[in-house]
Amino acid sequence: MTVLLTGGAGYIGSHTAAELLAAGYDVIIADNFSNSSPAVLDRLEQIAWKRPKLYNVDVSDKSAFERVFAENKIDSVIHFAGYKSVGESVRVPLNYYRNNIDCTLATLELVDKYSVNSFIFSSSATVYGAENEVPYREDMRVGPCSNPYGWTKLFIEQIIKDFSSAKPEFSAVLLRYFNPVGAHRSGLIGEDPRGIPNNLMPYISKVAVGALPVLKIFGNDYPTRDGTGVRDYIHVIDLAKGHVAAMRFAENNRGTEVFNLGTGKGESVLEMVGAFGNACGRPVPYEFAPRRSGDLPEYYADVRKANEVLGWKAELSVADMCRDAWNWQSRNPNGYEE
Ligand code: NAD
Ligand code: UD1
Repeated sequence: MTVLLTGGAGYIGSHTAAELLAAGYDVIIADNFSNSSPAVLDRLEQIAWKRPKLYNVDVSDKSAFERVFAENKIDSVIHFAGYKSVGESVRVPLNYYRNNIDCTLATLELVDKYSVNSFIFSSSATVYGAENEVPYREDMRVGPCSNPYGWTKLFIEQIIKDFSSAKPEFSAVLLRYFNPVGAHRSGLIGEDPRGIPNNLMPYISKVAVGALPVLKIFGNDYPTRDGTGVRDYIHVIDLAKGHVAAMRFAENNRGTEVFNLGTGKGESVLEMVGAFGNACGRPVPYEFAPRRSGDLPEYYADVRKANEVLGWKAELSVADMCRDAWNWQSRNPNGYEE
């Protein structure tokens, strides 16, 4: 069975590729490397002893992307391609609407033309907006989102639902990720953000390896157990396995289903900093700073639906997440750059 990963060279796509290859699937990656490195392909080959087929293509360019469908018999598409920086989406919103929505429309139009009936989409917990109570359940209302990136996820969810309703043989799964962190156990693939990281774990990793001096903790006066923000961090390998489970589910389903992928547990920033210090063998320097605008005090997933319907459960601990993030960071201080 052949699975096409749009954006498959990125952080989550590459780990999903590793899991799919290990499970015996044929993997095709379509990526323009706008936020990733071709070196991922060599690393995947070292991990899996098998190299995914690569198309270096802009997925939003439908006529160029069509070659992938014309040359291969694709059974399922996992659609990762898109931009993902919240702050950047506020600065250049049209780039985000253009790239994220065009990538999705081009992919769906080709999926339609070539009769691919299984489709998985990378959505985000950000679609729950700021007004729901925790833990977030899939049947809660969505929006309003606090930034253009979040809106692209919500609009794309709607586009997929509408397409799915119009095509009875089609099966779509919307996966709402919580906070993916960590890296492959081998240390060969991991998260490699360009420039100064925005997200917590890559920032902590850069401080621990000495590339940045100190972590700023955004707010210590939230109504949480230690005053710092609480999130549901999920190991990227558990997340990747969630995609394999979702794809198997999609094969025997019709219509659109939504699943949260998280652990169901919240950790505070201070707890993550402490766990990372244990993993790397020295404390991570931090200082408190003002709250970051748009941040919520606390959210985590209700994961019962994914546990029961997909038969999938996150298994790796926060200690595993920190060990693997540190292993990746310390073995590759410059990411994929040699
Ligand atoms: P990433 O940036 O590492 O991966 C995205 C990949 O898409 C990159 O390899 C990039 O080069 C590629 N890409 C972007 N635009 C493209 C285009 N027009 N044509 C071809 N390739 C293109 O991001 P990630 O963390 O792996 O996230 C994957 C998906 O999951 C994204 O849709 C993201 O919004 C979503 N998501 C991520 C998180 C997270 O915390 N990382 C959380 C929720 C949802
Ligand atoms: C962010 C995005 C969210 C996106 C997710 C996945 C925002 C407001 N939200 O989630 O839409 O889906 O990434 O990529 O950007 N923190 C610090 N110092 C730092 C960085 C983070 O204290 O240098 C804190 C934050 O305040 C938060 C926690 O760490 O409490 C996690 O932050 P982060 O990793 O950026 O993820 P989210 O904000 O949850």
